[in-house]
Amino acid sequence: MKALEGVKVLDFTHVQSGPTCTQLLAWFGADVLKVERPGEGDATRKQLIDVPGADSLYFTMLNHNKRSIELNSKNETGKEVLTRLIQECDVLVENFAPGALDRMGFTWERIQEINPRIILASIKGFGPGKYEDCKVYENIAQCAGGSASTTGFRDGPPLVTGAQIGDSGTGLHLCLGIVTALFQREKSGRGQKVSAAMQDSVLNLARVKLRDQQRLAHGPLREYSQFGEGIPFGEATPRAGNDSGGGQPGRILRCKGWEQDPNAYTYFIIQAAIWEKVCDVIGEPDWKTAPGFGKPGERLDKLNLIFERIEQWTMSKTKFEVMDTCNPHDIPVGPILSMKEISEDEGLYATGTLVRVDHPERGEYITVGCPVKLSDSPAVVKRSPLLGEHTAEILADVLGYSPADIERVIASGAVGTPKAAAVK
Ligand SMILES: CC(C)(COP(=O)(O)OP(=O)(O)OC[C@H]1O[C@@H](n2cnc3c(N)ncnc32)[C@H](O)[C@@H]1OP(=O)(O)O)[C@@H](O)C(=O)NCCC(=O)NCCS
Repeated sequence: MKALEGVKVLDFTHVQSGPTCTQLLAWFGADVLKVERPGEGDATRKQLIDVPGADSLYFTMLNHNKRSIELNSKNETGKEVLTRLIQECDVLVENFAPGALDRMGFTWERIQEINPRIILASIKGFGPGKYEDCKVYENIAQCAGGSASTTGFRDGPPLVTGAQIGDSGTGLHLCLGIVTALFQREKSGRGQKVSAAMQDSVLNLARVKLRDQQRLAHGPLREYSQFGEGIPFGEATPRAGNDSGGGQPGRILRCKGWEQDPNAYTYFIIQAAIWEKVCDVIGEPDWKTAPGFGKPGERLDKLNLIFERIEQWTMSKTKFEVMDTCNPHDIPVGPILSMKEISEDEGLYATGTLVRVDHPERGEYITVGCPVKLSDSPAVVKRSPLLGEHTAEILADVLGYSPADIERVIASGAVGTPKAAAVK
C-alpha cells in the first residue's frame, strides 16, 4: 500500500511549480488526474523540444505517474465534467494566473458547495497585496524573494540561481500544505484552502539572509569575507560570493585540471574544530600556533591569504582526491559536480534518486526520482502520460460515465478526441 493510496487529485497545474507538487503526490501514491486543454495540453509539452514530435523533457520530467484527461473547462459540458471531478476528488491543485479559476466559474465558494471535503491548493506569484494580480515566473520569484539580491559577488550584479527555488521550491511547500490539510481533514471532516506564494517560498529558503539583515543593525557581519577585507557594509544584506551562509569561512577553490574543466573546483570549509588538521594537510603546520592564525577571530583578516594557500594545495589534486584526502580528517569539502557527472553516477541510480524511464515517443531518458524516500511507501517512477491518454478511462472509471455519456461528452467538443486505444 502507498502512503496516499485512495487520495484523488484533480491536477489543474501547468508549467513547473504546480506539476512538481502533484508529481510528489503521485509518487506518494495519490491518483493524479491531470486536466489539460484539448489539443494543446500543458504548454511545456512543446517547450524546449529536443526530440521532434515527442513530449519535451520539460514536460516528461515534471509529470510522472499521472493520468491525463483533455477537458475544456470553458465549454458547458466541460464544466459539467469538471464539477463531477471536483465531487470525486480529495484535492484540487492549480497554479493558474490570479483569478483564472474564478473566471471559469469555479470560485472557492462554488468548489466548497460542490464538495465540502475538498482541499483547494493554489500557487500564485505573490500573496495578497499590491502585487497579487501579477503573473510570475521562476526568476521573478527569485528576485522578489530576496534570493537574487543576496546571490553573486559584491562587485557584480544580482544573480539568479540554477536551482528552481521559485517553481519547484514552491511546489514542495504546497505539497506539505496539502498533506497537512489532508491530515486535518481526517479529524475535522472539512476541506480547506491551501495557498503558497512563490515570493514567500523563496523568502523562506533565503531566511538566513533576513537574519543577516537584522544583525547588520548591531554591527558588521564578521563572517562575510568583506569584513576581513575591511570593506564597509551598506544598509542591506550584501552578496557574499561563495562565503558559507552558516558562519564558517568557506570558499570555492580551483582543483587540478581547472584550466580545461569548468567544474574542476571544490568547496572548502575551515571550521575552528579542524583548523589544525587543515594546517597539516596543506603543509603549513606552523599556522596552528603562529600569532594571528591560532584563533578563528584572528584569521578573519587573513582569509584571502589562507584560502590562496589552500588553493595551491587543491590545485595539485583533482576534486575527488581533495575529497578523499580531507574526509578522513572530517574537513568539510565537496566537489563541484557537473550535471554530466551526476547523470553518470550509478550510486544515484541505485538509490532511485536518478531513474531511467522509457517513453513511447522519445525512448529512454533520465529523470530525477522522488527525492524523499518513505520506507513503507517506495516511489516507483512511471512515465508521464501522453496528452489525453486517459480521457475515456477517467470518464468511465472515475466518474462512472456510461458509453453513451462518453459519446455525448465527446460530441460536445469538451474533451477533444480520446485516443482510440484508451476508449473502453
Ligand atoms: C505561469 C503563468 C504566468 C502562465 O500564464 P498563462 O500562460 O497566461 O496561463 P494562465 O494561467 O493565465 O491561463 C491562461 C488561460 O487558459 C485558460 N485555461 C487553462 N486551462 C484550460 C482548460 N483546460 N480549458 C479551458 N481554458 C483553460 C485559463 O482559464 C486562462 O484563461 P483566462 O485568461 O481567460 O482566465 C500563470 O499561470 C501564473 O502566474 N501562475 C501562477 C504562478 C506560477 O505558478 N508561476 C510559475 C509557473 S512555473
